[in-house]
Amino acid sequence: TVDQPLKGKKVLVTAGPTVESVDAVRYFTNHSSGKMGYALAEVAKQLGANVTLVSGPVELNEIMGVETIHVTTAKEMYDAVTTRFEHQDFVVKSAAVADYRPKITQTNKMKKKDGNLSIEMERTEDILKTLGEMKQHQYLVGFAAETDHILEYGKSKLERKNLDAIAVNDISEDKHGFKSDTNAVHVFTKQGLEQTIPLKTKHEIAQDLWAIFNKELLGESK
Ligand code: PMT
Repeated sequence: TVDQPLKGKKVLVTAGPTVESVDAVRYFTNHSSGKMGYALAEVAKQLGANVTLVSGPVELNEIMGVETIHVTTAKEMYDAVTTRFEHQDFVVKSAAVADYRPKITQTNKMKKKDGNLSIEMERTEDILKTLGEMKQHQYLVGFAAETDHILEYGKSKLERKNLDAIAVNDISEDKHGFKSDTNAVHVFTKQGLEQTIPLKTKHEIAQDLWAIFNKELLGESK
């Protein structure tokens, strides 16, 4: 129907940061608030989709009618997303996933010692790349947070990770990207669309993005 264009579609959205522990009290994380991902999940629900939200630790209320799976680490997000991927029509990865985690997590609190401390870090699973390799009928969307060379990085990520679309936010600007209620994104798609969505609320950005993704998936299935 006109106001429920995603009716019957299964959508999975990831949101928020991941948290990687160093010891019993310390951890590495990032500034993602989850707002962009929660807006994408909420709008998809309003458009009639059956929505699963895989969320890192955030301080946002759950969205009524959206199945929310809470995870902490990149590994937990990887497991939650890859096991559900097969049955989805759209997967949108707006989470800010850690690229590195401490190689060893101490179960106790580490004692303070004289001198500097080095913590060895190892790479986490690249969830988006894995999904790109698993992809069959799914429309797969990545996000990228960049401070420079926005267009080149965005386009190269689209190809390298076998995505259908990528939304790149310029996080060097105030009011863009992490934490704020507003954002501005450049969207590139495999079908060749290039569109700049100027500064507006994350809810409005989510509405614009769903209009693009939905049009492309429906176009493809004709
Ligand atoms: O949560 P908010 O405060 O509202 O902020 C929104 C946001 C800035 C976090 C969001 O709009 C955004 O840009 N999310 C992606 C941020 C990011 O981690 O970008 P990246 O360039 O590091 O990663 C690129 C893509 O790969 C992302 O889709 C990410 O989910 C994915 N990724 C990254 C690392 C990893 N190990 N696995 C992944 O799947």
